[in-house]
Amino acid sequence: MSRWRSKPDLSWREQAKKKAASDASDLVKDGHIVGLGSGSTAAFSIEEVGERIRKEGLRILGVPTSYQAFLLATAKAIPITTLSEHPHLDLIIDGADQVDGALNMIKGMGGALTREKIVASASKKRVYVVDETKLTERLGVNQTVPVEVLPFALSTVKARIIKMGGAPVLRKATKKAGPVVTDNGNFILDIDFGPIENPLELNRDLNSIPGLIETGLFAQMADFVYVGKKDLTVRRLEAPRLTRTHKFAHA
Ligand code: 5RP
Repeated sequence: MSRWRSKPDLSWREQAKKKAASDASDLVKDGHIVGLGSGSTAAFSIEEVGERIRKEGLRILGVPTSYQAFLLATAKAIPITTLSEHPHLDLIIDGADQVDGALNMIKGMGGALTREKIVASASKKRVYVVDETKLTERLGVNQTVPVEVLPFALSTVKARIIKMGGAPVLRKATKKAGPVVTDNGNFILDIDFGPIENPLELNRDLNSIPGLIETGLFAQMADFVYVGKKDLTVRRLEAPRLTRTHKFAHA
């Protein structure tokens, strides 16, 4: 059962995000190793897990996907572990920027895409939490694809992306002069590809560029997406049972 309570001072989107995150957090069980996602929706699930530790004495270990998740988890007294100590996770709960009908996703507007993908790939169950504005028929419509790039390779990576038909823009920091620098010390390119025909293929092509570290295309990775709706109900979407082309730790 969910412990969520509506707060009148939150917008419907914030309430929907919180409700989806709270419902998904019920999947966390005693003894689990849990990937802690990044962004404002995943933050609600970290808070919820922290509450359950405090109230129910739930015993779990968290693997944060960013400094944001790490700082929030430690503030909520969630015990932290690392991939070195626990390379196999029970589940990850994370947010997403865009989700299509097959549950392919674009992630990384928070800049944590590389660690998010690594932790997801080590997780038995991959669960994503969004509000309904994130659903789309086609990835790439009104949404850029973030990729993390080694600063040394910025110009060569950009040239390769332009050759592929993308329009890359270096992400600028807002409270610092110059580019955003990720938790890994790299840059982010936000690429406009327009509507994306085949996210799996595009991800493969981008990942073949030397110096491009990871992409925000999460194709065939989600098991479940919890969608918080405007009427404050939550719809749980399940991925079609495909022969996964990604080989995961627990696949
Ligand atoms: C960070 C992410 C986030 O999960 C994504 O940007 C969604 O964030 P929010 O829940 O704040 O909309 O991928 O890298």
